[in-house]
Amino acid sequence: MIGTTEKERAGLNRTLILSEEDRTRLRGQLATSDITQREANLDRIFHADMLDIVGRLPAHCADLIILDPPYNLDKSFGSVKFRRGTRDEYAQWILTWLPSLLRTLKPSGSVYFCGDWRSGSAIEAACEEHLIVRNRVTWEREKGRGASANWKNASEDIWFFTASNDYFFDVEAVKLKKKVIAPYTDQNGKPKDWEDGYRLTHPSNLWTDITVPFWSMPENTDHPTQKPEKLIAKLLLASSRPGDVVLDPFLGSGTSAVVSRKLDRRFIGIEIEEEFALLALRRLELAQYDRGVQGYSEGTFWERNSAPVQPKKKRSDGDGGLFQ
Ligand SMILES: C[S@@+](CC[C@H](N)C(=O)[O-])C[C@H]1O[C@@H](n2cnc3c(N)ncnc32)[C@H](O)[C@@H]1O
Repeated sequence: MIGTTEKERAGLNRTLILSEEDRTRLRGQLATSDITQREANLDRIFHADMLDIVGRLPAHCADLIILDPPYNLDKSFGSVKFRRGTRDEYAQWILTWLPSLLRTLKPSGSVYFCGDWRSGSAIEAACEEHLIVRNRVTWEREKGRGASANWKNASEDIWFFTASNDYFFDVEAVKLKKKVIAPYTDQNGKPKDWEDGYRLTHPSNLWTDITVPFWSMPENTDHPTQKPEKLIAKLLLASSRPGDVVLDPFLGSGTSAVVSRKLDRRFIGIEIEEEFALLALRRLELAQYDRGVQGYSEGTFWERNSAPVQPKKKRSDGDGGLFQ
């Protein structure tokens, strides 16, 4: 157990924690290793080592694979400890599971692979033999420890790969609403491509509109490296259609499963640490009542600090936009 209930928390802290009752109830919903046909594995969270599962999933069952494994750092995920190795050791580790994982990907499928600057060259080296490299998105995470003799490490990368040249990408679904800096008008004084001071822009490979989950956000858990729902929502909306299957073999606190549910995708999640797998199930329960993704409303992603101008919260928008 990770000790989520024992900590002292501030009054406005909305971090999701599990009670003993939650754990007992949710344990029964965890999938173990009873893999059968495609349908039987969908919308399930396996509490298992991904190495024991991915090779047994049906071939070509996934439209999109989200990879957010331990980065090449010394880091503990509950009882699982990951040790930093050389670039080659990290690339070798990726190659112990990548080929069997890619069996599950459809020929038209896409893969996103998260990493920090130190893991990046190994990720590219390991994956370029098996996939087509399309891009590398840099996410300005902002949060990071200042260094006295180095640049603060405040960004992460998300590598974008596809299995072939026949792939799906919905650019319209991931446009970003940004404040207009140069408010040009036509000869009649009408705004050119903007409305109410905002313009819908093409999404670039530099993402500055997403914060890490903070303790005051309802999506936050005690997982040490939880991804923001807004970030995963961009990946899913760009590279999958409603009903498509999203596979995440390093599920953590379940962000990709939760966002899949909120955006009407199917999912398969695998997580080795029971407490995180249970947190993912709890988040899925809550997603039945709140399908909002903070920073995304009425089909649009909003830049940071635009909450006051975002459309008024609807019940189904959850807590949208407090911080983003
Ligand atoms: C970087 S975190 C993923 C965080 C996740 N994206 C989220 O939003 O919460 C990596 C996760 O992989 C899990 N993990 C590590 N090795 C694993 C393995 N062999 N099989 C399944 N899960 C594993 C860790 O316990 C950790 O929760």
